[in-house]
Amino acid sequence: MSKINVCCIFGGVSTEHKVSLSSATTVLTNIDREKYEPIMLGITTSGRWLLYRGPVENIATGEWERGDEFLTEAWISPSRNEKCIYTADGEKLPVDVVFPAVHGTNCEDGTLQGLLTLSGIPYVGSDCESSAICMDKAATKTILQTCNIPMAKAVVATRTEIKSDIKNLIAKCESLEYPMFVKPARTGSSIGVFKVRSGDELADALSEACVFDKKVLVEEYIRGAEIEVAVMGNEEPQASICGEIDPGSDFYDYDTKYVNDRASYYIPARIDEKSSDKVREYALEIYKTLGCRGLARIDFFVGERIIFNEINTLPGFTSISMFPRLFMHSGMTISDIIDRLITLALAQNN
Ligand SMILES: Nc1ncnc2c1ncn2[C@@H]1O[C@H](COP(=O)(O)OP(=O)(O)O)[C@@H](O)[C@H]1O
Ligand SMILES: [Mg+2]
Repeated sequence: MSKINVCCIFGGVSTEHKVSLSSATTVLTNIDREKYEPIMLGITTSGRWLLYRGPVENIATGEWERGDEFLTEAWISPSRNEKCIYTADGEKLPVDVVFPAVHGTNCEDGTLQGLLTLSGIPYVGSDCESSAICMDKAATKTILQTCNIPMAKAVVATRTEIKSDIKNLIAKCESLEYPMFVKPARTGSSIGVFKVRSGDELADALSEACVFDKKVLVEEYIRGAEIEVAVMGNEEPQASICGEIDPGSDFYDYDTKYVNDRASYYIPARIDEKSSDKVREYALEIYKTLGCRGLARIDFFVGERIIFNEINTLPGFTSISMFPRLFMHSGMTISDIIDRLITLALAQNN
């Protein structure tokens, strides 16, 4: 039987470019090469699409895009009749399925999914609409209100309001009480996320957050353990066990995620069985309500109450990421997870 051509897209213009390089490395080193033929398609931080034929080891370091010998400018054709990558050298490489090992802006927010939908090539993960909604923390909250999922109270502000009417805005937010969290609606990796304890801090945080997005959320502070659940599937999704992150710092900020080693991870989470069952039940309800498919990681706070925090439709897929680790706990290998995700993608009709 001939192999299935899997185009692994990595890099991208988002602030999570580097995380993507690690996610792609995990995919490319663990994919079953007896069954799948990987094609590596990298996107630079400036948005160039390059077919890469060099060693996988050079992806995580960023080395892959230096030196031309392994690189050819290339693009996925939007034509449904082609289902291929065209290179600048005039080559045509047929693609059976795309594995987007990318995160954040233009990668996880429906943009790339729109192009892939046009191309007619099946792809791992949620479609254009669901990706766009899940990327937007304000839109996600609006939709989940329809199914009574408990969430932090929030005020949504636009960049225009922040720039023109900050006093009024602060007055509106103060009903949430300090400390509060300020976050751009559509970033990840805690970029532009601030915990604020006064009006002055709130004003500064709003100005900084709106650099990253023209829509910003101000949320009440939620006390509780940070609990994450991985979900895989299309019409009949399955939830993993719960994992827990103890940031070991004030909150789970960028440095705690990627720079220092302060965070501790617990699989399974240190919560009672009843809470864990409830979190998993909410996770499946959220996944279905938001129209997800393939995979997602859904994050909660668990304290006195269980509160939904956010959903990631293309969660980190590095060897230390929660998404693979949660399913590995139930006996799957990373190769099994990749195989399952590709199988789920191939079962979809775009
Ligand atoms: N309302 C909140 N209450 C308490 N902590 C929060 C709240 N919102 C965010 N945080 C903290 O900030 C981190 C990043 O926020 P999150 O909403 O998950 O954004 P991102 O998409 O950047 O991961 C969370 O993991 C948590 O530590
Ligand atoms: Mg988060």
